[in-house]
Amino acid sequence: MKIIVAQDYQELSRIAYGFIKDVVSANPSAVLGLATGSSPIGIYDLMAEDYAKGEVSYRNVSSVNLDEYVGLPATHNQSYRYFMQHNLFDRIDIAAQNTFVPVGTAKPQQECQRYDDLLESLPRDIQILGIGNNGHIAFNEPGTPHDSGTHIVKLDDSTRAANARFFANINEVPTHAITMGIKGIMAAKKILLVATGASKADAIAAALRGKITTDCPASVLQNHKNLIVVLDKAASAKISF
Ligand code: F6R
Repeated sequence: MKIIVAQDYQELSRIAYGFIKDVVSANPSAVLGLATGSSPIGIYDLMAEDYAKGEVSYRNVSSVNLDEYVGLPATHNQSYRYFMQHNLFDRIDIAAQNTFVPVGTAKPQQECQRYDDLLESLPRDIQILGIGNNGHIAFNEPGTPHDSGTHIVKLDDSTRAANARFFANINEVPTHAITMGIKGIMAAKKILLVATGASKADAIAAALRGKITTDCPASVLQNHKNLIVVLDKAASAKISF
């Protein structure tokens, strides 16, 4: 495991983006595992900026996202597909047909199987991850088995509350999501975990220094052979080096 502590979010994003750029420069047909949420937005901004300068092309790159709300169509402004279009895909030259996000309006069980098949056919060179305050990765909440494939989850109250800021009120936050499982996440060749802010410090300490347990889903990342963690100072405050 490699842990890098950045001064602030800007530096964190620049360092994390460097790993993505390296992957795409080495392999123009790379497969990127992407995440939504606030943590990776700085990385996506830098991807778009470098693309605009003509420094990197995503023409032959594919992307696979972690998760989506059940029931939200791609056109809903809180769907994760919409987030990805707005924050990244519409700003770079990635081909629409090479971008994969679980389909929230598909038949849930069939979509889980389709997604697991997709993950097998598109091995990811690198997977970006954020972490929830309760240690979740993607929507794998505490208690999720480490061998889980893509599945439907009932969202934790704390997760719904954390995401309520993006909806008119908490009642509008979907109750279920479709998520890549822990097994699927761990199958990526390289994992890039980014976390920022004091609210993540406990989860980061449990994930990186605690026991490997389903109580803290992110702790399973300690078993990954190629884990890179980029934190800001506040998120790193509770880990020992
Ligand atoms: C997003 C995802 C979530 C977030 C996590 C952190 O696709 O799967 O696990 O990574 O909730 O969210 P932020 O980055 O908003 O703090």
